[in-house]
Amino acid sequence: MPHDAGGVRPETLAVAAGYDPAQAGGAAKPPVYLTSTFVYESAAQAKAIHEAYFDGTGPEVGQTHHIYARLGHPNLDMLESRLAAVDGAEAAAVFASGMATHSAIALAHLRPGDSVLHSRPIYGGTDGLLNQFMPQWGVTTVDITDGCNADHVRAQADKALAAGPLAMIVIETPANPTAAITDLPMIVALADAIGARTGRRPVVVCDNTLLGPFAQRPIALGVDLCMTSLTKYCGGHSDLLAGGVSGRLDLIAPLRLLRTTLGSHCDPFTSWLVLRSMESVHVRSERAMHNARVIATFLRDHPKVAGITYLGFLPEGSPQRAVFDRQCSGAGSTFSFHLKGGEAEAFRLLDALRLMKVAVSLGGSETLVCHSASTTHYAVAPDKCLAGGITDGTIRMSVGIEHEDDLIADLAQALEVV
Ligand SMILES: Cc1ncc(COP(=O)(O)O)c(C=O)c1O
Repeated sequence: MPHDAGGVRPETLAVAAGYDPAQAGGAAKPPVYLTSTFVYESAAQAKAIHEAYFDGTGPEVGQTHHIYARLGHPNLDMLESRLAAVDGAEAAAVFASGMATHSAIALAHLRPGDSVLHSRPIYGGTDGLLNQFMPQWGVTTVDITDGCNADHVRAQADKALAAGPLAMIVIETPANPTAAITDLPMIVALADAIGARTGRRPVVVCDNTLLGPFAQRPIALGVDLCMTSLTKYCGGHSDLLAGGVSGRLDLIAPLRLLRTTLGSHCDPFTSWLVLRSMESVHVRSERAMHNARVIATFLRDHPKVAGITYLGFLPEGSPQRAVFDRQCSGAGSTFSFHLKGGEAEAFRLLDALRLMKVAVSLGGSETLVCHSASTTHYAVAPDKCLAGGITDGTIRMSVGIEHEDDLIADLAQALEVV
């Protein structure tokens, strides 16, 4: 089914787009194409296929031939077309992990001397890419710590512009681990204004990992590139690593080309697994979001909890609540809570859990918890962690699809021990 099939909803496209049984002898579900290379009918056809791939010209343009799996393969095609369909984008590129995706976006769009504006908090790996790796290539970064405050965002953008041409704005919203949100249309309008003023419009990238493809639709909000760690909600079972990015073809094509150099494509079996898991992501997400609300309500009222950053509790009348209401159709199932005390209390809680697993990652079928400052954000300087709202007592929770009563019982007995 073409991804622009009129009127078909993303939930339906997640099941139907990207694969036609006629492609594989009527098989209802796609085969896994476990091959590293592809055979040509003739030497002349081999040349024409390479011409089509690299130059976009010649008789093989528009055909579905492949060359070598690192350059593309049938399972990757299916997944990319499904992801583009679900995100409502023209095209998508899928990589071996979320970080492989972020790295390709940065390397394709940034040059020495450029500057980048990014939201904070931001996933530790992305922080490392933008604040440790890219500066070695002459890129300057400036962060935004209040993504709902237009004055703050403009002031930080001016700092970035003073350091060099502002080439990219990377927004993780909601952010890992605190679920802090950024106003995406406000960022897009800022990028437009900078483009009009300087002649160079920054590329706006949204990391949509935390809410996943249904509860927030960055492409419809005007963002250029919608990035997702497919390891999380789309993969959904904590058994694979993959990442994807969707957007206009002219922005996606260079990423695919760079991927052949970096060797960071998603392999056939993993592509097949993600394609399969995408069929159920909306159902899993709904159950997980329900459970998350129940747990967040329990934690909010608990005497040992100092605070909670669950999106469903954003105060009425706050700028964050207004942005959330405009931008998101669900509160997600990953959030943080702050225990009274610090690391010692947090560790006691984690060690007392019996059902919930102490592990990094999120978006799987099982509930995972971790102490952010000492795990996912270990490599982020303490002052930067604090600026992003991560204290020594902060625990991140990715709520799964288990029975809500069992989750509450586990949490209640562990809180007794703190
Ligand atoms: C918001 C966010 N973006 C990107 C990534 C990186 O994804 P991956 O682990 O698939 O490389 C993560 C991983 O936790 C994440 O939470």
